[in-house]
Amino acid sequence: MQITRDRGRSDSLRAQLLGPRRYEVLSLGDVIEVGRVLTGDPEGMAFYGLAPSAWYARGIRLLGRTCVEATPDVTARPIARTVHALLRRREGVGVVDLFAGSGNLMLHVAQRLSARACGLDADEAVWAQTDANLRIIGAPPSVRLGDWLSYFNDPLRVDTTVYVLSPPWGSAFSFATGLDLARTDPPIPQIVETIAASDRSTRCYAVVQHTPVEPVHNVSAVTDPYPLVASGQGCFVISIR
Ligand SMILES: C[S@@+](CC[C@H](N)C(=O)[O-])C[C@H]1O[C@@H](n2cnc3c(N)ncnc32)[C@H](O)[C@@H]1O
Repeated sequence: MQITRDRGRSDSLRAQLLGPRRYEVLSLGDVIEVGRVLTGDPEGMAFYGLAPSAWYARGIRLLGRTCVEATPDVTARPIARTVHALLRRREGVGVVDLFAGSGNLMLHVAQRLSARACGLDADEAVWAQTDANLRIIGAPPSVRLGDWLSYFNDPLRVDTTVYVLSPPWGSAFSFATGLDLARTDPPIPQIVETIAASDRSTRCYAVVQHTPVEPVHNVSAVTDPYPLVASGQGCFVISIR
């Protein structure tokens, strides 16, 4: 699906959903409107392989902040394809999202690789909603409540860890100017350095999610220290070890 933004409304809708409507449980009508504005498609906010009307009918709900921050199917699927083309399916792989949000990106990549998944989210309201949503779709409980750094106290015991990185973009992103990887919260280079110092698996990759539409700045802050091993729609992959 081609993503087409409503340029006049994207930044103001994002500011609303990250601001006063941050913890509002969105109606189906709200979700359809977000899809229309941010993707050009009323069905654009599909998650967990389900169109909005289907997930909403099953009792899945999204908070305002998660609807705009999370990685919907339209973005998660091409990323999962890129990672799968690089790694294929192999034994002993874990997929980790240190900033899990909806858990959707982590689940898409893990399903493609037949891998285990583990996510962290520090916002209790987001975590509780995601935990409830994942139960509805029958996914194994895979998102922990906690700060991203707490993952390293109890990591997956796997040979290969694939970190999908999509921390809050905050003021590092606008639909008008694009995404600055060095100004996300925390900055992507800092997350990568922490993983390099703390991860104990034999092989370790980081999949950096970025906007598939707007310009992306400071990619070299990540790809100068670590080899770029794949890139695709909305992401690139570096080998950390
Ligand atoms: C951009 S969203 C993640 C989207 C995710 N990839 C998905 O598939 O939905 C970022 C998430 O990080 C969480 N977060 C913010 N600061 C955090 C921290 N210090 N540790 C863990 N999670 C954090 C936020 O609550 C938010 O849900």
